[in-house]
Amino acid sequence: MRSFILLFILLATHAWAEWSPWGNIPVMTDKVYIENCTECHFGYQAGLLNAPTWEKMLQVEELENHFGTDASIDEADRIHLIEFLKSNSAETLWNKKSRKIASSMGDKVILRISEVPYIKKKHEDVKESLFTQEKVKSRAHCNRCHEGAAKGLFEEDDVLIPNHGRWQD
Ligand code: HEC
Ligand code: HEC
Repeated sequence: MRSFILLFILLATHAWAEWSPWGNIPVMTDKVYIENCTECHFGYQAGLLNAPTWEKMLQVEELENHFGTDASIDEADRIHLIEFLKSNSAETLWNKKSRKIASSMGDKVILRISEVPYIKKKHEDVKESLFTQEKVKSRAHCNRCHEGAAKGLFEEDDVLIPNHGRWQD
């Protein structure tokens, strides 16, 4: 009976995470964001970083040299995106992952999500070669391992790593 209840709770919380505003990190549906920020990688959710970081990343000189590439955008779009990202950043949200990201970042600027202490810690048991392999390329490509990344779901049990398979603790 006890394991039955446990299973029920597990299933219920899983389904909850799928649709509740507190479960997943809200998906980016903003047209300007999709147009400008999903060409080279999947659309990182605003809830993966804090407001000071988004503001910094969206500065003209930062975009000109965005992780070694030029991601410059139209000025009106840039102003729109700063406001959009800041008002949907981790510290404004109630889902569990964004709460953890927000408290682990404080008001520090950390341009790489993979360098946020909470995110870094969560991956400490994952071998470096699994990130650097051809099919993943780097820690930045969350969606190559997290099947639900585009939907804002980053749960351990939805991880499928190329050339490794399901993640088991
Ligand atoms: C011209 C291609 C290009 C465009 C356009 C672009 N990016 Fe990037 N972005 C990159 C590259 C390259 C990286 C580094 C990827 C890596 O380390 O493998 C990156 C990394 C990032 C990261 C850090 C991921 C991590 O944790 O390492 C964030 C956040 C990000 N981009 C957000 C944005 C936003 C927001 C926009 C729109 C304003 C944008 N990008 C537009 C190429 C681009
Ligand atoms: C090489 C594959 C891989 C990549 C790339 C990757 N992750 Fe993960 N991630 C994992 C694995 C495996 C775990 C589970 C680790 C564990 O339990 O020890 C995990 C765990 C997590 C967790 C914690 C889940 C939980 O339920 O506690 C979060 C949040 C997360 N990843 C977010 C991200 C984000 C955001 C990115 C991109 C910036 C990313 N991951 C890139 C493989 C990856």
